[in-house]
Amino acid sequence: MKFIAFNVREDELPYFKAWEKENGIQVDTVHEALTTDSLDQLAGYDGVLGLQTGTYPQKMFNKLKENNIKVFSIRNVGVDNLDLEEAKQNEIKVTNVPAYSPNAIAEFSVTQLMQLLRNTTVFRRKVVEHDFRWAPFVGKELRSLTVGVIGTGRIGRAAINIYRGFGAKVIAYDVYPNPALDREGIYVSSYDELFAQADVITMHMPATPADHHLINAASIAKMKKGVYIINTARGSLINTADLITAVKNGQVAGAALDTYENESTLFNHDWRNKEIKDETFNELLQLDNVLVTPHVAFYTEIAVQNMVYIALNSAKAVCETGTAETLIN
Ligand code: COI
Repeated sequence: MKFIAFNVREDELPYFKAWEKENGIQVDTVHEALTTDSLDQLAGYDGVLGLQTGTYPQKMFNKLKENNIKVFSIRNVGVDNLDLEEAKQNEIKVTNVPAYSPNAIAEFSVTQLMQLLRNTTVFRRKVVEHDFRWAPFVGKELRSLTVGVIGTGRIGRAAINIYRGFGAKVIAYDVYPNPALDREGIYVSSYDELFAQADVITMHMPATPADHHLINAASIAKMKKGVYIINTARGSLINTADLITAVKNGQVAGAALDTYENESTLFNHDWRNKEIKDETFNELLQLDNVLVTPHVAFYTEIAVQNMVYIALNSAKAVCETGTAETLIN
């Protein structure tokens, strides 16, 4: 048995090495993302591991089949960039890592919200400029706010617990309500109801075509004036241009965006000393009350180790038994 992993970062390498040693299975690692060219160099491998938010190469699963690859394991949770129909046609088993650390992402949501509520990035900038005055940046406390959680899977549920710990009133919406939460009466019955009641909206659902640009001019108009929006899910859920307009006119008091609809060539790349031609993105970076982070909500030691180990264990399980707990097709 032999695997190859793409898009491997330096911080993942010790985990790959440790797994390789513990399991006695060779795992080759490649720093670059999977491309059409790399698909031609897979002969002899049984499984391929990927991790990227952008699109995978065209006809990838067809190529994997030609190379007798049995399993394609992603080290992350989101499968929105995979053509699962093509995987099925080519009989490639696909696995993901559904729960590497829901807390990592849930904690990041509250981390970013707290920064917005207490204006810490503004105070940091002012202090560096030796401006030590307080006004007008008076903060808000979470216990005075209603937090609307969209998506109540593992991450959403972790977020609910954390926000409740801060004393916030939490409401939620999910097309597939969780029975235990339902009994607690946490759910509102529609997006519109959540938009009307929430002071903070935190998004923890997968990206589906139905929710493309869920947050847009029309939905923002239904929200409370001064709402905060936190997106650690997928960039495609927000119409960024509409959000910028709403931040500028005060309808949205602040936003924390860990994902961006055109992030794949930007995030986890070094753009220092290079011109970014994406005007919408450049405009976002100018806004004091928008916190942009490069898709790092997941990025904790626990999560990284789990992503590597669970993806490799899944690939191994598929090769040995034809299935895995994390199989998604
Ligand atoms: C995911 O797990 O789907 C994420 O968004 C994390 C990222 C490294 C791809």
